Amino acid sequence: MADAKSAGFSPASGIELIPANYFAPVDLAQVFPRAAHLEIDLGCGDGAFLVAMAERFPERNFLGIERLLGRVRSACGRAARHGLGNVRVLRVESSYAVKYLLPPGSIAVAHLLFPDPWPKKRHHRRRIVTREFVAAVRRLLAPGGQFRIVTDQADYFESIRALLAGAAFAEETPDEVDAFPLTTFEKHFRAQGAPIHWLLLRKVASSRKAVARQ
Ligand SMILES: C[S@@+](CC[C@H](N)C(=O)[O-])C[C@H]1O[C@@H](n2cnc3c(N)ncnc32)[C@H](O)[C@@H]1O
Repeated sequence: MADAKSAGFSPASGIELIPANYFAPVDLAQVFPRAAHLEIDLGCGDGAFLVAMAERFPERNFLGIERLLGRVRSACGRAARHGLGNVRVLRVESSYAVKYLLPPGSIAVAHLLFPDPWPKKRHHRRRIVTREFVAAVRRLLAPGGQFRIVTDQADYFESIRALLAGAAFAEETPDEVDAFPLTTFEKHFRAQGAPIHWLLLRKVASSRKAVARQ
């Protein structure tokens, strides 16, 4: 059996997951103390949502992915203060993590909550959701796994819907919209009365064309 270091987990780092090798998929069996349903939060920010979910569902594992060091520290600190053993935070670009660092079929739920909006047209190419990104997230999901996307940006939401056409996801009705803990950005947008747009998708077999009410 691989030791923790070669498996990509540095015990010394505690909650922060620092892969020993950034060029191979992480061995999740070595990252979390026990195998369980795994949810990822892509762009987890300060970890408020991640930690609230991990507290609510101690039987599940949660991995936050975030590129900014300060936010990674906030998320790790928050998880540590709550004494959570089922949370890890990885500092890396989400698109890199979904393409190269996470094993295919390993994720039960991928959350993408308030991705950076890049509202100016000339900046749209910086938006994280592309066809390639959607395909990479789909690859990561276990059969029947869910991809949950939330944004306050109507035009981004519509462009995401368009990108999902033919991507072998079935859209589900999120009857639990208010059941999820609020993210820090969501609290802020709700306080401003901004509309919140939701997509809850379930991975389906690729022969079945599904998705997106256009
Ligand atoms: C608008 S904030 C939302 C944070 C959190 N999800 C929330 O709802 O409170 C977007 C977050 O995604 C992170 N982010 C943006 N692009 C990223 C990328 N390519 N990889 C990882 N994190 C990213 C940002 O640093 C920021 O923390």
